[in-house]
Amino acid sequence: NTNTRSIWNEDSSSMNLVPRLRTVKNNYVAMNKYIVNFTGRKHSRKLSREELICELKQRVPVKTIQFGEDPFTTSDWQKSLPSKSLMEELGQFRTCAVVSSAASILHSKLGNEINGHDAVLRFNAAPTSGFEFDVGTKTTIRIINSQVISTGDYQFHAKSLYRTGVLLTWDPAPYAANLSEWFKNPDYNFFEDYKKYRENNPEQPFHILHPSIQWKLWNIVQENTAENIQPNPPSSGLMGIVLMMTLCDQTDVYEFLPSQRQTDRCHYYEMFHDQACTMGAYHPLMFEKNLVKRMNHGTDEEIHMYGKVTLPGFRTVLC
Ligand code: C5P
Repeated sequence: NTNTRSIWNEDSSSMNLVPRLRTVKNNYVAMNKYIVNFTGRKHSRKLSREELICELKQRVPVKTIQFGEDPFTTSDWQKSLPSKSLMEELGQFRTCAVVSSAASILHSKLGNEINGHDAVLRFNAAPTSGFEFDVGTKTTIRIINSQVISTGDYQFHAKSLYRTGVLLTWDPAPYAANLSEWFKNPDYNFFEDYKKYRENNPEQPFHILHPSIQWKLWNIVQENTAENIQPNPPSSGLMGIVLMMTLCDQTDVYEFLPSQRQTDRCHYYEMFHDQACTMGAYHPLMFEKNLVKRMNHGTDEEIHMYGKVTLPGFRTVLC
């Protein structure tokens, strides 16, 4: 029996947040760290599933940084940056899985189902070892924040966890910054660590996401939300979803929209508890989830049971 209370409400607003997280959200809006100057228009009506998918397809072209684009024009970058873009590197997949790091995936028994996909995307420090039964074993792509690379906390250079699959990193950029401005003043200065990792692991593909994507995606979240959302980049989760919709004919997303196992525990691999991980604090995560719920081709039952959302590949939709 599907308990509708456990299915993500696609009209969630900050009124649904606990007061602490509402305050955090309002503080980020007031701070406007990335100097967001939103000149778009908020839609006065809810776009249909197809309209939303077409907005993403037409306005969020996933790009990775390649040698030759200013300021990545020096010989050290020629050596470090992959010669192919991420899309050229990976080609096209039929079915893909996005595995969120939410603790609600524990006891899901989703491992076999996740492994059945042609490509599997994971995030940051999320392991498979020890959690195979619930999260699977396959890792095709791993998205890592610049923070993971540049702070010692994650042992990025040492841990074997990061050695499988294609790596993709991103770093928050100011809303209107060009590549050179961002390069001079990134949120986390990961560039030297990136080069060092490339030198030590030349065989492992490792790309840098073009920062323009964050804000193209953010604009769409804001346009489709009545209130002012956090003026901070979308979560890795939403960027990963758009990446897989670009690469795959069909993408199944697990535990981004929480299942019946929803919990305040943050990650399946850590004991840390904070509602912010699921509801958003820095990231406009709640509003990202509203959009993903609206785009879902699957059933509410699948959300309830597996936290599962099914999305079509951009190739398969006519806009
Ligand atoms: O915490 P981290 O960014 O490594 O998690 C990866 C992604 O999984 C997040 O960007 C977010 O989209 C999603 N997530 C979630 N709920 C959680 C933890 C993570 O939706 N409790």
